[in-house]
Amino acid sequence: MSDRYAVIGHPVAHSRSPAIHEAFAAATGQSLQYERLLAPLDGFVETVSAFAAAGGRGANVTVPFKEAAAAWATTLTPRAQSAGAVNTLIRQADGWLGDNTDGVGLCRDLVDNAGWSLVGQRVLLLGAGGAARGVMAPLFEAGIQSLTLANRTLSRAQQLVDQAGFHALTAVDLAALRAPCDTPFDLIINATSASLQGDVPLLHPTVWHAQTGLYDMMYGHRTAFLDWGAAQGIAHRRDGLGMLVEQAAESFWCWRGVRPDTKPVLAQLRASLSSS
Ligand code: ATR
Repeated sequence: MSDRYAVIGHPVAHSRSPAIHEAFAAATGQSLQYERLLAPLDGFVETVSAFAAAGGRGANVTVPFKEAAAAWATTLTPRAQSAGAVNTLIRQADGWLGDNTDGVGLCRDLVDNAGWSLVGQRVLLLGAGGAARGVMAPLFEAGIQSLTLANRTLSRAQQLVDQAGFHALTAVDLAALRAPCDTPFDLIINATSASLQGDVPLLHPTVWHAQTGLYDMMYGHRTAFLDWGAAQGIAHRRDGLGMLVEQAAESFWCWRGVRPDTKPVLAQLRASLSSS
């Protein structure tokens, strides 16, 4: 029987992870099964423990269980520790290693796929939830100059800044960005869940310049945030589909020791999104 992997979430029916990992497995000649596991909202531990007892080799964990997965794992990688969340569980001889591949996935998509440099960039990160927390340290590791965390609830952003302790990291109230700002940002990343309610964090036109990149961690043929950016005339826009594929590739590497080529899988997913 081939090795078993799964994505655990709630909801999970929409997850594209099985298709991505099946494509990676086919391209690299790896034999594995990858399934979706819907865990009850109060039943992550039962679901992951049953999967482990049945011989599962590894799992991806998605909303809303990434913090629960960090608590469940036997040990954490440094990047999972700094994210406070786990999206990848890896079976080891003496337990389960919890890792977080979201941040490296974002950075690879920005640099390798989009061709946007991160070195020396002034970055604005919108949101202070799990999605934002997971990418802060990897952005600094990729060489950004500064990171400004803007959140609707300022205290939540301030708490993240205080915990993380990076020198060039500051918190601002999201509403303050509706007023003119002194120096524009080079890259603006939306890590809020505002789009889920059809909302867009509104920014004053002095927050960006002509070359600023706009990135939405959400993906889809269109997202409300990127539509807003297009209406403002922001030319460089990208959704989070590449981040999804890159974080999956990093998980695949952790599990199998083989690095899949992400380009064809991303192109295939993009084509299927455009036609849906
Ligand atoms: P995730 O783990 O996906 O980051 P989360 O922890 O619920 O999810 O965080 C959601 C983020 O989106 C938060 O930063 C939230 O702001 P608050 O901390 O003020 O709640 C932000 N968010 C959600 N809806 C928003 C909206 N309509 N406008 C602006 N920010 C929003």
